[in-house]
Amino acid sequence: MTDLSSPSQAGAGPVRLVAASPVAVIEIDNPPVNATSQAVRAGLLAAIHEVERDAEVEAVVIACAGRTFVAGADIREFGQPPREPHLPDVINAIEACSKPVVGAVHGTALGGGCEIALACHARIADAGAGLGLPEVKLGLVPGAGGTQRLPRLIGVEAALDLVSSGRTVKAAEALRLGLVDRIAGQDLRQEAIDFARELIGKPIRRTGALPANGMEAEAAAKKLLEIRRKARGAEAPGKAAELVLLAASLPLKEGMARERETFLELRSSDQSAALRHAFFAEREVARVPGFDSAEPRPVQRIGVVGAGTMGSGIAIAFADAGFEVKVVETSEQALAAGQARIADIYEKQVASGRLTAAARDERLGAIRYGVGVDTLADRDLVVEAVFEDLEVKRALFRELDAILRPGTILATNTSYLDISLIADATSRPAEVVGLHFFSPAHVMKLLEIVRTDRTAADVVATGLAIARRLRKIPVVCRVCDGFVGNRILSRYRQQAEYLLEEGALPHEVDAALEAFGFPMGPFAVSDMAGLDIAWARRKRLAPTRDPRERYVDVADRLCEAGRFGRKTGAGWYRYEGGRREIDPVVTALVEEASQRRGLRRRPIPPEEIQARIRAAIVNEACKILDEGIVERPLDVDVVMMHGYAYPAWRGGPLFEADRIGLQPILDQVMERAGKDGPGWEPAAGLVSRAASGARFYP
Ligand code: 3HC
Repeated sequence: MTDLSSPSQAGAGPVRLVAASPVAVIEIDNPPVNATSQAVRAGLLAAIHEVERDAEVEAVVIACAGRTFVAGADIREFGQPPREPHLPDVINAIEACSKPVVGAVHGTALGGGCEIALACHARIADAGAGLGLPEVKLGLVPGAGGTQRLPRLIGVEAALDLVSSGRTVKAAEALRLGLVDRIAGQDLRQEAIDFARELIGKPIRRTGALPANGMEAEAAAKKLLEIRRKARGAEAPGKAAELVLLAASLPLKEGMARERETFLELRSSDQSAALRHAFFAEREVARVPGFDSAEPRPVQRIGVVGAGTMGSGIAIAFADAGFEVKVVETSEQALAAGQARIADIYEKQVASGRLTAAARDERLGAIRYGVGVDTLADRDLVVEAVFEDLEVKRALFRELDAILRPGTILATNTSYLDISLIADATSRPAEVVGLHFFSPAHVMKLLEIVRTDRTAADVVATGLAIARRLRKIPVVCRVCDGFVGNRILSRYRQQAEYLLEEGALPHEVDAALEAFGFPMGPFAVSDMAGLDIAWARRKRLAPTRDPRERYVDVADRLCEAGRFGRKTGAGWYRYEGGRREIDPVVTALVEEASQRRGLRRRPIPPEEIQARIRAAIVNEACKILDEGIVERPLDVDVVMMHGYAYPAWRGGPLFEADRIGLQPILDQVMERAGKDGPGWEPAAGLVSRAASGARFYP
């Protein structure tokens, strides 16, 4: 075995060469994900030179140690000046090798890892492996031949889909597409060696030498337009697609030069910096100082109280992650409805090919049903998802407290209520925590873990461990009205309603925010979610509302007219055949609201709409930090990106605020504070940071 670490690398190198005859194995071993750091690149290049020299070697396998094939370039190196050898040169050397090279893929071959696989002369993958070029998710294009080799191997159309979406394909699909040649049975390494042996003496098939079929100009232009529209302001997908299209007309070398140029340009772009921040923040957020060292409690048996939309989604999320679930309702009828809802969700997953019938049966089998909470006595954790009313929840927790054994954790899925008051209804406030799922709970990644002053550290740690098993992104926060996400959302919606009063119409606000990068504007979202829940909350809070607060009542009037959104065919818009249409009735209501307030309506440009909404979000986010509801700016950014679709290419509101500069945002906030009254005062932390030139992220 030869250790190929460069002389400058101390200790064992990350690339080993097992130079057996006739098949040599080059093994990359660079935990945790075999990223192509400078040492890996140097080691790989040296290994290729070595096998070229060694007359005993007639074929080569490139494989990886550990949990995965190469997961890409080392993202942590992106902030530093590039160091030789560059990945495209290493990859070109692999393709140019005079001896057949087989890539043996397990885990995931992503980005630069997939590009290594593409340059091999043949590929074999584990049945569970995945391959993809996710660079666009980091605001980049593939930078080591991916846009040029993939279309040559699988065709331009399929390559456009993969490169512009960044999605990972599983081995079976990769085989169908021609991205891999074989799927291994039991022993990937041995089968790769056998495959390489078969190729000895045969003509070498180099991906870069294959022709890429062109695409008709009109179809290509249409596709590009569609990709740009779907990207909602992110620039990388369109640029990556343009490069893929070039593969049909440019020789590999020229195509790769164009690709490298775009890669380097994007690598230093604001969008890529934001998306890299998003990538690391998603991982960092689960490491919560003070809780990551506490020992989580063992949890396997879950109780879910309430089988409505949220309860069903929560039950599915747990069943999908291998927990044993019991769902309870107050009546047989409600239970049957919940059971049918759960079965229907699984049925749709089977119909769309996302789930096999066997997996559906297994998951349905993991969920049991019962009437009444007394059937939950043996649970390790109970999550309630019942009607959003404090007294209803307190009564339920009192009842659960009486029947659950000591040590069982009691979680509430409330979106707004004071969890301390719910905990007070029990004899075990240290074991009460908020697990705030987002709808649909089995799909949305975000999980707010809400702790009261008395929640025990190991209960929070258990929440974090559960989130990991559910493959969710947890954000730990303290109690306040609406916690992190819904509290910010309330402000954002309020500001959107002020814009209506001053002259904008719902579709103009929505269009401005969709152009900002949100998939849907706030009024379209309200119509989809239903206006009735927020109405009930407003009615509940009405007695305590500050009379000086600027309050817009258009939504109340819509609800009084029975317009609860899509489900009633009308809300902020009216719906014809599922399409949203501007409704003159709403326009009239909005104009009346302006009149009542004595405001002369004026056209409001999209830039003003965007700046005001952004300022409202940043100011409230900063108050959340000031009050210690969360500890770190990244907690807020992750909530906004994963729960509220704040464009990831902006990096979340606080990351973006740093980029824009805090003073212009503060100026905007001050201007609104003068006009919008109580609640809109600038956050102390925003004022102090702007004054001292500090940032949210040092
Ligand atoms: N570079 C540096 N670190 C990386 C990395 C990379 N490409 N990929 C993952 N890591 C780190 C993570 O930050 C994490 O570190 P931490 O433990 O300190 O938080 C650790 O590896 C494990 O990662 P995950 O927690 O994400 O582990 P999972 O098992 O859940 O997922 C994965 C593994 C699917 C590989 C996932 O990490 C992933 O998607 N990684 C990014 C892949 C990617 O985007 N590759 C393209 C890079 S750009 C490129 O290749 C350019 C080229 O074209 C030139």
